[in-house]
Amino acid sequence: MSEGERLTELAKRRGFYFPAAGAYGGAAGFWTYGPQGAALKSNVEDAWRDRFVLQEGHQEISAPDVMPEAVFEASGHLDGFDDMIIECGECGATHRADHIVEDNTDIEEAESLPNEDVMDIIADHDIACPSCNASLAGEPVDNFNLMFATNIGPGTSSPGYLRPETAQGIFVEFPQLSEYARNQLPFGVAQIGKAYRNEISPRKSLVRVREFTQAELEHFVDPEEDEPPLADVEDVTLPLYSGESQQAADGGVEQLTVGEAVDEGVVTSDWVAYYLGVARDWYERIGIDMDRFRFRQHLPGELAHYAADCWDAEAEIDGDWIEITGFAYRGDYDLQKHAEHSGEDYTVFKQYDEPVTVERPTVDPDMSYLGPEFGGDAQSVADALEALAERDPEAFEGEDVTVEVDGEAYTVPVKETDFSVETVTENGEHVRPHVVEPSFGVGRLIYTMLAHAYTEDEVDGEERTYLDLPPEQAPTTVGVFPLMDKDGMAEYAREIASALREAGHSVTYDDSGAIGRRYRRQDEIGTPYCVTVDYESVEEDTVTVRERDSTEQKRVSIDGLAETIARLTEGETTFDDL
Ligand code: GAP
Repeated sequence: MSEGERLTELAKRRGFYFPAAGAYGGAAGFWTYGPQGAALKSNVEDAWRDRFVLQEGHQEISAPDVMPEAVFEASGHLDGFDDMIIECGECGATHRADHIVEDNTDIEEAESLPNEDVMDIIADHDIACPSCNASLAGEPVDNFNLMFATNIGPGTSSPGYLRPETAQGIFVEFPQLSEYARNQLPFGVAQIGKAYRNEISPRKSLVRVREFTQAELEHFVDPEEDEPPLADVEDVTLPLYSGESQQAADGGVEQLTVGEAVDEGVVTSDWVAYYLGVARDWYERIGIDMDRFRFRQHLPGELAHYAADCWDAEAEIDGDWIEITGFAYRGDYDLQKHAEHSGEDYTVFKQYDEPVTVERPTVDPDMSYLGPEFGGDAQSVADALEALAERDPEAFEGEDVTVEVDGEAYTVPVKETDFSVETVTENGEHVRPHVVEPSFGVGRLIYTMLAHAYTEDEVDGEERTYLDLPPEQAPTTVGVFPLMDKDGMAEYAREIASALREAGHSVTYDDSGAIGRRYRRQDEIGTPYCVTVDYESVEEDTVTVRERDSTEQKRVSIDGLAETIARLTEGETTFDDL
């Protein structure tokens, strides 16, 4: 059984996650988190919020899942958020054409190839349909937009889309959010919420789904002035698989500190390097195995339509590398697009320390000359003259000045442009911030945490499976069991369970079956500690505490039990020191 298969089996049996709406046959790419999964998800989200929002001093918002078409027209998703699709002429099944190529040839990153090339490769290799085995040679490869469309209100006059990334809910609100940040750069806005993509081929349970949770941070910075606190992370070691290494015959992962990666220019953006350092330690905190982890740089053809540079955090499962987070330098792409499409101001006004005096070239073209001369193009010529004056005032030094509009040259006598250079005092300037974006997929984090935590060993000659999740992340912190349901043990155990719950622990009370089976059940969901109430407990006010990984047990007083568990889970004491 592969890692993925045994995980999916355990996830369903123990209530982490399972295919949604199974009673009706389900729909591929939709999963329900069961009680353990929902608790784990909430713990991961809390840990993310703690590190990437609270500790960084950022703000968190919650925007709608559905937004009007204009938002996605501006963001580029309506036109550009496509995957390559191929339909089998025999059985009608649809597949991701680039994945079919990658699965059947040595080619990696087929999504960066043009559709025609992918079609040719499918024909040359006579690749068969994964569903019915008929040849796919000659079938067209088309673009398929991944957004789920809907209508806002009755009728079809107001189309909307389920957001394909939570990020747009932040970008579109930038003018308002900037005010909340008192128009002071840099500032970061985060969001944890659902994103939707109508994936052509959902696969590997939580890895490629159609509805998933993203935890995204959009950090708005002044590209000229703001610098990240690199010193905080400069000694963190990053396993980096750069674009250059990927293209070199003998290239591999290089272990570089954040400081070295920046100095050697392997990571070109200091901001991206900063977040790689922060994230590396955070992944370790949530239990991702650092021996099965790397940061991989996107190759030029792989970059999303908005990204100037991008690194993915990838985790290894079943020999495949799965992208769990994207770290993108988005430049001012998104704010620029929303400004253009909405006509609103997506800049921050940066006040100078002292007002400055500058020379500003201006024109005020005589429209009574331009109109008769250039007809319908007169306004475009006037705009072009204005832009030229700003860009190259020396062009107005002769008798005539020439501008280009839509590839055609227009020559205007300088005297008709009313060119002049004014001396003005400026108090500041409008800056369009750049955006640095760490974007985490919560489902993929969970899948990786579970796969990496899955452990099998033998205790007293018996095989067992347990999840060595960090106590902070484990869905249940402590299992409480009466040894037997008699002589007051059950009542005593229930009281202990209530007291632990009151102290804020996540507790499971279990009195069914042999004690060994109860331990196994908790092991399989990663519960770090189990408390057992026996005869001695009732007589002496003591219980045994069992540690999941070592399976060792210690007898402790019930006085201060809740604090002991808290100190263990927070790493302030060790089980050996009890
Ligand atoms: N705002 C940037 C953005 O959305 P992305 O690389 O498309 O970038 C970010 O997605 C993260 O979201 C990925 O690293 C991955 O963890 C998760 N993700 C993307 N598509 C997914 C899918 N179909 N199923 C599960 N997770 C997905």
